[in-house]
Amino acid sequence: MAKPASALAKGIDSVNTWVNERAAVGEFYKKHLSEYYAPKNFNLWYFFGSLSLLVLVNQLLTGIFLTMHYKPDAEHAFASVEFIMRDVEWGWLIRYMHSTGASLFFVVVYLHMFRALMYGSYQKPRELVWILGVTIYLVLMAESFMGYVLPWGQMSYWGAQVIISLFGAVPYVGEALVEWIRGDYFVADATLNRFFALHVVALPLVLVGLVVLHLAALHEVGSNNPDGVEIKANKDENGRPLDGIPFHPYYTVKDIFGAAFFLLIAAFIIFFWPEFGGYFLKPDNFVQANPLVTPDHIPPVWYFTPFYAILQAVPDKLMGVILMGAAVMILYLVPWLDRSPVRSIRYRSWMSKFALALFVVAFVRLGMLGLSQDSSTLELRLWTFIYFGFFILMPIWTSFEKTKPVPERVTS
Ligand code: HEM
Repeated sequence: MAKPASALAKGIDSVNTWVNERAAVGEFYKKHLSEYYAPKNFNLWYFFGSLSLLVLVNQLLTGIFLTMHYKPDAEHAFASVEFIMRDVEWGWLIRYMHSTGASLFFVVVYLHMFRALMYGSYQKPRELVWILGVTIYLVLMAESFMGYVLPWGQMSYWGAQVIISLFGAVPYVGEALVEWIRGDYFVADATLNRFFALHVVALPLVLVGLVVLHLAALHEVGSNNPDGVEIKANKDENGRPLDGIPFHPYYTVKDIFGAAFFLLIAAFIIFFWPEFGGYFLKPDNFVQANPLVTPDHIPPVWYFTPFYAILQAVPDKLMGVILMGAAVMILYLVPWLDRSPVRSIRYRSWMSKFALALFVVAFVRLGMLGLSQDSSTLELRLWTFIYFGFFILMPIWTSFEKTKPVPERVTS
């Protein structure tokens, strides 16, 4: 009985050796999984990195199947999406997995970013992990904006019109730039074609490349943790961090549990509430694009609305666009704006806690104002002020606040 098994084992062994002599897959597996030591005190907030990866894979796979039936042509795009929804077998599921997946992507990425802010994960030596993260976020915004144009509904069309025309605010070359982006004198077939190419090929490649770099940079320095303690500072006689556990199997199993729980929630939304009350897919986008009928209100999708609100807080178009761009770009500076000697919010004073909480309230409130048609300018300005205040004043309170002593080892 044992003979065939050992023959099989031998066979696997020799294939393994053959591959490893040529591609060192085993080394890679050890370095990034079985011998990658991650802090043993990860909490729920550490689920969102692997969940971002899961949603990215979902977007890529469902996107491939949508592309098989979608037609990037202003004449046929809308009807091809309707065809996917009604006539393609399981097409409705693939489409909703992709459109709801886009919103869920931003949910998990925002929570992932919040975790980094809470535990100071951007501080030395993880600045590059953060910089690559912010770049992923920027590319993700471009990717989702272009994807939203593809169904060629009223919101796709007019949303593209509003966002592209913002480039018109650039002095001297603005109008030429707008025309160059559109590829026509108005949002038209040429715009749809290039957005399709960018959404389906170029930006996904960039995104995947950036995610690989993000993880490579993280694995070079190792993960931070809720205590902000550097686990590499305490190693055993074999050079293994005392507070670390191998990523595989410990965190692969934990992440699979998180993924299962997340998929349960995602499935519930996809099956029962895919438009999410108009937040994920707007009713106007079930009406074909009509260049002659401008909708009353053209708000962007929820994940852009905080920035749209900042744009609206300023009457001057150019200043509004600059401020909106600055609201994202300022994220790059966070590792240098934070002067605190400790990483985690656990060991900071009430000042950091209050500032972060106020920042979250400002971001959410700006998001709500950006969705509304008649927001008060005063309120828009107040929250915009608080949004930027968080970053601009960060060097001050992080230099002066009294921090608590950080333990040598992680607390469980
Ligand atoms: C496609 C989007 C993204 C994917 C797939 C992704 C993936 C991951 C994964 C798997 C980890 C390790 C597990 C974890 O710490 O949760 C991680 C860590 C990290 N990510 Fe991302 N990420 C993405 C976007 C971002 C963004 C937008 C930012 C910030 C702007 C960011 C900042 C960080 C930081 C600072 C860490 C280290 C956290 C720590 O060690 O405490 N990531 N990311």
